[in-house]
Amino acid sequence: MKPIEIAKGIYEVGVNDWNIKDFHGHSTLMGSSYNAYLIVDEKIALIDTVKKEFADELIDNIAQIVDPKKIDCVISNHTEMDHSGGLPRVMHKIGEDKPLYCSKMGLKNLSRHFQQKWNYRAVENGQEMSLGSRTLTFMETRMLHWPDSMFTYLKEDRILFSSDAFGQHYAAHEKFDDIVGDEIMPHAKKYFANILLLYSALIIKLINKIVEMGLELNMICPDHGIIWRKDPGKIVDAYVKWSKQETENKAVVVYDTMWHSTEKMANAIASGLSEEGVEVRPMSLGKWDRSNVMTEVLDAKAVIVGSPTFNNGLFPTVSDFLTYMKGLKPKNRIGAAFGSYGWSGESVKLINKELEGMKFEIIDPGVRIQYVPDNEGIEACVLLGKKIARAMKRHIDAT
Ligand code: FEO
Repeated sequence: MKPIEIAKGIYEVGVNDWNIKDFHGHSTLMGSSYNAYLIVDEKIALIDTVKKEFADELIDNIAQIVDPKKIDCVISNHTEMDHSGGLPRVMHKIGEDKPLYCSKMGLKNLSRHFQQKWNYRAVENGQEMSLGSRTLTFMETRMLHWPDSMFTYLKEDRILFSSDAFGQHYAAHEKFDDIVGDEIMPHAKKYFANILLLYSALIIKLINKIVEMGLELNMICPDHGIIWRKDPGKIVDAYVKWSKQETENKAVVVYDTMWHSTEKMANAIASGLSEEGVEVRPMSLGKWDRSNVMTEVLDAKAVIVGSPTFNNGLFPTVSDFLTYMKGLKPKNRIGAAFGSYGWSGESVKLINKELEGMKFEIIDPGVRIQYVPDNEGIEACVLLGKKIARAMKRHIDAT
């Protein structure tokens, strides 16, 4: 990828990973990018690197601007290896003794990833560093997305290098919000739902802190996807909404099925919801990746989960999804369960237990149907959908 001058003397020098389709467990159908930034001032600083296998491409990109040996320091905003994997190649190329700035946790975590005794400089929250005519400020952002994470803010240009925050898994030559347009928002939403949702409370605190500090933002430069330069406020506002877990009059009916019985039940529940005016998404885990379902859950008031009883338990894809959703900690949701069975029929009870563990409000014991739903069974499912819709309305009216 050709480097892009994003502001005078500041370049995006990272790489596109066009073919990655699974990023530690969630689907990335548009690939991803590992962004890195080069600031050429009296001193030259590199912010973050890329995955190990792309390190030479990063170095080639840098070499189109300056001789990599002229880089004076590297800043590691985040230890995860999509941003630090290239460090050994980069440090070897620029000089192993060059300062490597990171947070205190970054020092601990980088040292646990790499054997090299680099010239680490752990920075304090709020510490400043001059590059000559420009000043960098480091801001700790623990758990966004690892304990070592930090932002680096370039005061004079009002640019925030935000590491994972505000990113999207999206590979493209077009690198700015004003070029890509609103098409980027579903990717930003999917990224938040699958990576950051569980840190919602911390994100709200961080955004409040940024507002209190009066930090002006001309540009937000994440480590994945496009750069927000036309309207950085748009992604900040979206993060506020998502972090508050504000939901809509929308339900996700997520299920898997063996012989279409649980599927028939799912569709009947969806009909009942729809008849009451709820936007509803029936999603089979046999067809949809868990991360796509989770993206829909992000703004859904109700999550209705269905599974056939399988070997006295849940169908494996449903167990997988419940474990995944539990880890991401959605809050303030209504839940319900359904499923077909042959002889033992434990699935509904097991789903309810999981949903209760997530503190979902269970508004009905759920519907179990032996073998294949008849007309009466289908009607019971439609009625469950309607009952959920009424509970959703009560919730929405109360907020
Ligand atoms: Fe893009 Fe947490 O790494």
